[in-house]
Amino acid sequence: MPDQRTPRVRRNREYDPFADLYNRFWGTEYRSCALPVVERLLLSRVKPGSTILDVCCGTGHFSKDLLEQGYTVSGIDASSQMIRHAKRNAKGGKFTTADVRDFNLNQRFHAAFCVFESLNHIPDTEGLTQAFRAVRRHLKSKAPFLFDLVGPATYRRNWNTTHAIVADDLVCGIRMDFEESTGTATCDVTVMEHPPAWTRRDFTVQQHCHDRADVVASLEEAGFKDLTLYAARDMGMPASFGTDRTFYLVNA
Ligand SMILES: C[S@@+](CC[C@H](N)C(=O)[O-])C[C@H]1O[C@@H](n2cnc3c(N)ncnc32)[C@H](O)[C@@H]1O
Repeated sequence: MPDQRTPRVRRNREYDPFADLYNRFWGTEYRSCALPVVERLLLSRVKPGSTILDVCCGTGHFSKDLLEQGYTVSGIDASSQMIRHAKRNAKGGKFTTADVRDFNLNQRFHAAFCVFESLNHIPDTEGLTQAFRAVRRHLKSKAPFLFDLVGPATYRRNWNTTHAIVADDLVCGIRMDFEESTGTATCDVTVMEHPPAWTRRDFTVQQHCHDRADVVASLEEAGFKDLTLYAARDMGMPASFGTDRTFYLVNA
């Protein structure tokens, strides 16, 4: 039965204009560092053939790996354009455009994960609690949920900078800024693309720091148990991705 409730949140569509670039230039480097962590902390606890929910699945690169390992994978993401790529990249997965704070797939999974700091896109603790509640509703009893969040040292290290991408068909400028007082990290992107004629697009993606105490309280409020924290550096991730990144593992 489709969910007939009125959505409680405005779906975060900010990755829609980013999706083609993300699919082409982002994500795969992170995946190669983080997949061993997901395998060690999560997949070691669920047999191939089990059902896994890829929360904020983006372009589906993790889903593809899990499908190849024999898992049955569903993914949700708030961006319909990221989901469009996921459907192409991870054939055999089932993908739905939905906000993590308010979704209903009418299914309970053996495990769920949410990586590449996707939950840092949620701006407030209330939203985190909504997201945790929604994920927990989709898990079987005692099923594990793994996610990562980054903290201020990541933003200080990686987000006070500019980048450029130059390819035959596009030039992309990325200006990143971390506002320490609000804990908000902003990435302003300008893309010039052709053909047919060079055209300009501008868009912004934001992330937010969450205090660990608030995250733990939100998890408890949503009913998750048995929290274990893992520092990404201790799990072998390089400084570029591992600085101030924490993996949270909980059970429903
Ligand atoms: C950095 S990307 C990570 C994508 C994927 N997990 C990966 O590892 O490649 C963050 C993703 O979170 C999604 N996202 C952000 N806010 C969301 C929300 N409120 N609900 C669902 N997805 C969201 C974005 O659309 C984007 O695809």
